[in-house]
Amino acid sequence: MRTRPLKVALLGCGVVGSEVARIMTTHADDLAARIGAPVELAGVAVRRPSKVRAGIDPALVTTDATALVKRGDIDVVVEVIGGIEPARALITTAFEHGASVVSANKALLAQDGAALHAAADEHDADLYYEAAVAGAIPLIRPLRESLAGDKVNRVLGIVNGTTNFILDKMDSTGAGYQEALDEATALGYAEADPTADVEGFDAAAKAAILAGIAFHTRVRLDDVYREGMIEVTAADFASAKAMGCTIKLLAICERAADGGSVTARVHPAMIPLTHPLASVRGAYNAVFVESDAAGQLMFYGPGAGGAPTASAVLGDLVAVCRNKLSGATGPGDSAYTQLPVSPMGEVVTRYHISLDVADKPGVLAQVATVFAEHGVSIDTVRQQGRLDGGGDASLVVVTHRASDASLTGTVEALRNLDTVRGVASIMRVEGE
Ligand code: NDP
Ligand code: HSE
Repeated sequence: MRTRPLKVALLGCGVVGSEVARIMTTHADDLAARIGAPVELAGVAVRRPSKVRAGIDPALVTTDATALVKRGDIDVVVEVIGGIEPARALITTAFEHGASVVSANKALLAQDGAALHAAADEHDADLYYEAAVAGAIPLIRPLRESLAGDKVNRVLGIVNGTTNFILDKMDSTGAGYQEALDEATALGYAEADPTADVEGFDAAAKAAILAGIAFHTRVRLDDVYREGMIEVTAADFASAKAMGCTIKLLAICERAADGGSVTARVHPAMIPLTHPLASVRGAYNAVFVESDAAGQLMFYGPGAGGAPTASAVLGDLVAVCRNKLSGATGPGDSAYTQLPVSPMGEVVTRYHISLDVADKPGVLAQVATVFAEHGVSIDTVRQQGRLDGGGDASLVVVTHRASDASLTGTVEALRNLDTVRGVASIMRVEGE
């Protein structure tokens, strides 16, 4: 074993970084044996230097992250600050100064992955980011390496721990949205700005990364259709229950049947209680990968939190250190197919639509006609008069598979009917 240590600069020592430092210290001997050289924490960049950090030598702490990555003796930079800047500039500077990079930063990779990969290539360095998608679950490396000989057609799953935690609490305990979000934040699952979680930006960034790797193409954050879970209500859960379903925030990336384009989307969806995703609880994530030869694979595990995420970071750190010792780099960017990303209107799925309608003869026929005129076939209709005996009724329509554009046209036309008082909710139905 080489005795001279590989030097690691840790950028960020919060929920994830503190666990990375802890495991590097407590597992130092095992890591050295697995890598073939000791790894030494050479510096820790933070924003608040006076904060007490258990297990961290205060002499290593600095607020000058740029100086740390420019030192010249750093082999690997671990970026767990988050956000776009200064993370982007620090990663680029790290490559320029001979370091490889491990990052957990999905927001940055979804936005600037191509440029960062190009910078890594230019400097013969590695850029690894297993922790950026689905916390502890090995997913990037299986897609990039284990499935490199297969053709992936679909990636579908729960990729945000915070929102799964909130939806699970709302469903199973009747907890309120804010109460559940506060708990997820206290447990270290949420992003620095939890809007990124609940509005679906975090899951959309992960979908962009997954789609790019799975389909060997370029999918940016802006290419991903996104709806958050902030508008999911107790009434939606009641409707879902009536259909034998629950509600999850899903990320769905698909290759078109003709292979000529891809789609990527994030939105809440009803899924049957019998579907394996329905039983994914708390901050766990689960992702199905469907490919030509392998068929259907399911990846499941903790999707957020300090220690689980640090596990993925450490796995990357070991891989990158091994590459450093052998003078090699791991697989880089593979966006050679250049497939276009189709708009959401072309996505085909089923829909659950809840309408408030006038409770009088002919309304059902009127509503059914609008669906027919837009080429949207109805699977089931359920009508219920108001419990308070008022004049309106609730009409729940579940469609067969239809394009998002047809459904949007249908809903616009429904809103124009005098007898439709309002569209209470529209939710996609997946997993059947
Ligand atoms: P935290 O907010 O807990 O930690 C961020 C760290 O970065 C803090 O130590 C902070 O310093 C430091 N920091 C902030 N700005 C600067 C700066 N300008 N220079 C130097 N240091 C800075 O975030 P997390 O640990 O939760 O997340 C880190 C990254 O990991 C993000 O990209 C996130 O998306 C990703 N991630 C997080 C997961 C999770 O479950 N939390 C799971 C998967 C990925 P200080 O301590 O002084 O405030
Ligand atoms: N905020 C993210 C989540 C962290 O809840 O999934 C893990 O990426």
